[in-house]
Amino acid sequence: MTGWLQGRRALVVGAGSGIGRAVVDAFLSEGASVAILEKDEAKCQAVRDALPNVPVTCGDATTREANEAAVAATVDAFGGLDLLVNCVGIFDYYRGLSELDSEVLDEAFDEIFAVNVKSQLHSVKAALPALREADNASILLTESTSAYYPGRGGVLYVGSKFAVRGIVTSLAYELAPDIRVNGVAPGGTLNTDLRGLSSLGLHDRSLGSTPGREKELQARVPLAVALDGSDHAWSYVFLASDRSRGITGDVVHPDGGIAVKR
Ligand SMILES: NC(=O)c1ccc[n+]([C@@H]2O[C@H](COP(=O)([O-])OP(=O)(O)OC[C@H]3O[C@@H](n4cnc5c(N)ncnc54)[C@H](O)[C@@H]3O)[C@@H](O)[C@H]2O)c1
Repeated sequence: MTGWLQGRRALVVGAGSGIGRAVVDAFLSEGASVAILEKDEAKCQAVRDALPNVPVTCGDATTREANEAAVAATVDAFGGLDLLVNCVGIFDYYRGLSELDSEVLDEAFDEIFAVNVKSQLHSVKAALPALREADNASILLTESTSAYYPGRGGVLYVGSKFAVRGIVTSLAYELAPDIRVNGVAPGGTLNTDLRGLSSLGLHDRSLGSTPGREKELQARVPLAVALDGSDHAWSYVFLASDRSRGITGDVVHPDGGIAVKR
């Protein structure tokens, strides 16, 4: 343990698997106290079993009520809240607009923007009163390479991630100097459970189970690495820590070097 987050109190939203779950482990190993909000009952129970000292709120992060309950549980357990991380997400399996039936467009748009975008706003809104009470508070939202480039998601996913990027910029502007707001933009990731949209009949598909994913990820990026949540988690630790105290409205890109791809 190096203690980069010693004594800090964190809420991680969407922490039942993948990147969020890895952020929980990294934050704990760096000395933070961590609470979570997660929708999936089985994942909530798995976290309770593995980490009995982590307060778990089981609820839907697209709602005001669940986020307020999770913030209240965090403050109740730890006496305050310094760090908010949102890692929820769903995926559209690369569907282009021409492949989306007109009849499902409304529902698919509402579903992906509720989970990928609105949840981030509800998490921040619910956490703001507690974060304003804290010293050096920090918010971390999860973007993606899809917040910068086309092709690694469909039009709805890319659109939703560009929106998260905009929210990071806008909130960093709004909340300075009291609260820093930054993004992490992971590249394609191993060992996650990123689900498809229910409205497109894709909920049972999990991106992490795609056959050959490790080789495909390695082939995709200049550094030839296939990263998992534990790789990305250190970007969250850095941006949450006071080592990054001069950084807001910015983004770390743990993506194997997509920006320098030939
Ligand atoms: N997997 C990738 O390749 C990849 C790449 C770049 C960015 N991302 C982004 O990283 C983030 C985490 O994704 P992941 O790959 O770890 O997926 P994941 O599904 O393993 O993790 C997301 C967690 O959020 C939970 N969740 C989903 N909807 C929720 C809701 N409404 N309320 C509360 N919890 C909810 C899920 O149950 C899950 O535990 C997402 O924002 C995703 O878009 C993923």
